[in-house]
Amino acid sequence: MHKPIFDMDEIRSKFPALTETDASGKSFVFFDGPGGTQVPQTVLDAMADYFRRANANHGGRFITSRRNDEIIEQSRVAMADFLNAASSDEIVFGANMTTLTYNLSRVIGRRLGKGDEIVVTRLDHDANIAPWAALEEKGVVLKYADFQTADCSLDFEHLASLVTERTRLVAVGYASNAVGTINPIQKIAAMAHEKGAWLWVDAVHFAPHGPIDVQALDCDFLVCSAYKFFGPHVGVLYGKHALLKEFEAYKVRPANPEPPGKFETGTLNHEGLAGVSAAVDYLAGIGKQYAACLEEKGLIDAYSGRRKLLKQAMYLIAGYERTLFNYMLNEVQKISGVTVYGITDPAALNKRCPTLAFTKTGASPQTIATRLGDQGIFVWDGNYYAISVTETLGLEKSGGMVRVGLAHYSTREEVDRFIAALKAL
Ligand SMILES: Cc1ncc(COP(=O)(O)O)c(C=O)c1O
Repeated sequence: MHKPIFDMDEIRSKFPALTETDASGKSFVFFDGPGGTQVPQTVLDAMADYFRRANANHGGRFITSRRNDEIIEQSRVAMADFLNAASSDEIVFGANMTTLTYNLSRVIGRRLGKGDEIVVTRLDHDANIAPWAALEEKGVVLKYADFQTADCSLDFEHLASLVTERTRLVAVGYASNAVGTINPIQKIAAMAHEKGAWLWVDAVHFAPHGPIDVQALDCDFLVCSAYKFFGPHVGVLYGKHALLKEFEAYKVRPANPEPPGKFETGTLNHEGLAGVSAAVDYLAGIGKQYAACLEEKGLIDAYSGRRKLLKQAMYLIAGYERTLFNYMLNEVQKISGVTVYGITDPAALNKRCPTLAFTKTGASPQTIATRLGDQGIFVWDGNYYAISVTETLGLEKSGGMVRVGLAHYSTREEVDRFIAALKAL
């Protein structure tokens, strides 16, 4: 493994949690990023500052309320930059991805009836399945696209065979939070649109690991959660403006009748929104600082300003994480009794997020996660709500898999510590 492109001490110094230790002074290894990432000091500061300077409800005729409204708009602009949305009014905030998806599935469901079809995939988190399955009570038919169990890649042919003129919506994950598979969203969008269906993309797992461009993807909706990309617990929905405008929201009468406000039920997490802007700025800062390290500069030619910095950052992060993941995957595969799930072909690792899922003979996922947790190495076990994945792999009854998630602040030393601990189990 060659020298990392990032100055890891510098990157890590921005995250206060990364200096936390146990009682004996041993540092923690945060490989639980797929469940939620750590936040930089600038995010903490922005949230504290919100309470100091701008703590008010929106629409008031006084300074703290005006500051509050400015912060909300800044976070919309920040998320539009992050996702390359055409405009900030295509950004809807909510509690989290699951709540936004339930809200919008009900809204979209108003337009659907008996015999209309929705296609979901077995590779998805249940938050991108259950809200659509809830429409079955209206007579909507749900169809499930399979994945190849050998490498956990989406069975595109099967998906394509399910999408017909009766399909009104295709709901698919950008990347699997269980096994890391990255799906060909652009291709799926073209296929869905050819049949006249909308495309709903769950980008929660992908967001901290690579660049997202909703215009290039041509998805109709895309959801993500800021707590997975170094921000606070806030959910974000992108929707094409024309669709957000035409869909009828479930809203209280005095609330804004226009998008995005009409989909934002009640008072938002304003301090969280201050943190969302700061998280986006943190990432843009990486783009600025390490711009010279991006080899394929053509990748970012289409962007300017903060959007360019963000794309730069996310390509750099993807590159850094891939190298580290490659190393971890190699080392884990050398350990006897370990079965890795998902893509392992070195030539295809650009189709996998740095998320490792494995089982090991002789120890349940729960035991492994507990033993590693006791040593300050934080990994997850079970199904992480991607229950269709563990069911399809036949692992649900045996405790699922252990999931190890790298982030751009993860280091080679941490991977070595994890590997040594796993070997010693
Ligand atoms: C891929 C994926 N989709 C959806 C969710 C649900 O996100 P939220 O907690 O924002 O509802 C998660 C959470 O882990 C996830 O990983």
